[in-house]
Amino acid sequence: MNNTILAIESSCDETAAAVCVDGKIVSNIIATQKIHAQYGGVVPELASRAHMQHIVVVVDTAVKQANCTLADVDAIAFTQAPGLIGSLLVGSQFAKSIALALNKPLIAVHHMQAHVLANLIPENKPSFPFLCLTVSGGHTQIVLCTSPTNLKVIGQTIDDAAGEAFDKTAKILGLPYPGGPLIDKYAKEGNPNAFTFPEPHIAGLDFSFSGLKTSILYFLKNAGSSLLFKENFTATEEQQKAFIDNNLADICASVQARIVSILLNKLKKAAEQTGIKNICIAGGVSANSGLRNSFKEMGTALGWNTFIPAFEYCTDNAAMIAITAYYKFLENDFTELTVSPSAKAEW
Ligand code: KG4
Ligand code: ZN
Repeated sequence: MNNTILAIESSCDETAAAVCVDGKIVSNIIATQKIHAQYGGVVPELASRAHMQHIVVVVDTAVKQANCTLADVDAIAFTQAPGLIGSLLVGSQFAKSIALALNKPLIAVHHMQAHVLANLIPENKPSFPFLCLTVSGGHTQIVLCTSPTNLKVIGQTIDDAAGEAFDKTAKILGLPYPGGPLIDKYAKEGNPNAFTFPEPHIAGLDFSFSGLKTSILYFLKNAGSSLLFKENFTATEEQQKAFIDNNLADICASVQARIVSILLNKLKKAAEQTGIKNICIAGGVSANSGLRNSFKEMGTALGWNTFIPAFEYCTDNAAMIAITAYYKFLENDFTELTVSPSAKAEW
């Protein structure tokens, strides 16, 4: 069967469109919104407006790069949830308008399921069942995937997401938003054993990252620890800043090492509990080089078959929406034009 799917992603601050023909991604366009950097985080209203400005050209470019026209498209897919509601509304209304005008079926996609299924884009795919550690700016989950349309969350964060832990740490260190990629960059030159941050003890397969942020704040208040100053020493803002400037790479490497160990220890536990050896990672934080390297090392040591999406399919993109829609298309899982986007989505 020949099918062509046009997919639109607009859940946060990337306006993206992709075309997938018979399960192969043939175009993948992203317009990144730079405006948020000056505010230290995504401003929802500005994100919606930027989606409005970008969406026509992004969709048009994706269709042209796929060497097709809208008339060739068999279904329109869009991110229905979760995300910023104003951002989701722009993408969903645009998708619905095309579907209505061309009388084509509509496919609603869950953004977090799409992150997992980004692992099905390359030729070398995991076979089922597989586990996926999905780590993004808003979510941290371990997902058991028994088929492309059967995904179950078996562990998740009880507070902050791993991406938030990276971004909040960066903010404390005075780095611009989004801080995750910058921590990754500085960590490459630092010693991951220079400083020790605590590992939380959370039952089962759930995660917690809020304590890490608090421990970093206390660590900086002590300007590093009693190794440098007297016990209970409270550094002035200038002393904290000087300490950060002199130790930035080591602090980044040490925090990154702790975030990675929290993630991988739970993933290892999930693999032991389920007996599954096909293991994937996904989501924006899976672009982190420390996580990618440690994940591969752990996989080799434990005899796992490991899978990591290409960089462009880790952070938000429409190719992952398109591949998820492809499998829904095969099951005739279409949605009504009356469907509404949702900021939060039970899964
Ligand atoms: O999946 P994503 O693009 O958007 C959401 O759905 O949230 O993830 C964004 C998150 C941000 O927190 C960003 O800082 C983090 O992914 N991130 C990274 C890296 N690249 C992106 N975190 C650490 N190291 C990276 N290289
Ligand atoms: Zn995402």
